[in-house]
Amino acid sequence: MEIKTARFVMSNSDVKKCPDPNKPEFAFIGRSNVGKSSLINMLTGQKKLAKTSSRPGKTQLINHFLINEDWFLVDLPGYGYAKVSKKSKEKFQAYIVNYILQRENLYCLFVLVDARHEPQKIDMEFINWLGEKEVPFALVFTKADKLGRTKLDKNLAAYKAELLKDWAELPPLLVSSAEAGVGKEDILSFIEQNV
Ligand code: GTP
Ligand code: MG
Repeated sequence: MEIKTARFVMSNSDVKKCPDPNKPEFAFIGRSNVGKSSLINMLTGQKKLAKTSSRPGKTQLINHFLINEDWFLVDLPGYGYAKVSKKSKEKFQAYIVNYILQRENLYCLFVLVDARHEPQKIDMEFINWLGEKEVPFALVFTKADKLGRTKLDKNLAAYKAELLKDWAELPPLLVSSAEAGVGKEDILSFIEQNV
């Protein structure tokens, strides 16, 4: 699939105020700094569509982008950023949880994990929670330009083994690099197959 147009629609912190849920929607979540916003920019071919930063905690709201006037990509804030105070962290988590559980047109949540690391506790807890809640998701291993094939394969195998401890089936697994343009076709054809 080709992305011909991509435009920002709105930002908010309330699932009830998001755009009408009458189009398929795909959202990006994962730890702060894992590369959610950068991946949206890579997929749409617009360097500044979603705001990125080398400092974690850049994206703070639910951001809707309309693609080809036909479906939404959504940039979400990251989790696991220790510098956010406990109170605001809880608040922030509540509206994200509401979004994930209540957004009726959410076709798939892309959970981004840094390809350089072996399974992290916070990611596994989040993934297992999605499984329990039966939220459709796919895993995307980001920043693949930062490691070699051998190490990437090792980390993918470790994730698969960890997932298979709790689940009989693996979710779709995708690899990306916003820096090198890796994964664009795979992710867009995954979306195309799921709209
Ligand atoms: P928050 O909004 O803070 O949760 O972060 P995010 O997940 O949206 O990350 P963002 O896209 O802002 O990227 C964080 C940093 O990682 C930036 O410095 C990016 O340039 C860098 N980055 C993102 N993707 C890649 C990638 O594929 N390869 C490399 N080398 N760096 C990347
Ligand atoms: Mg971001």
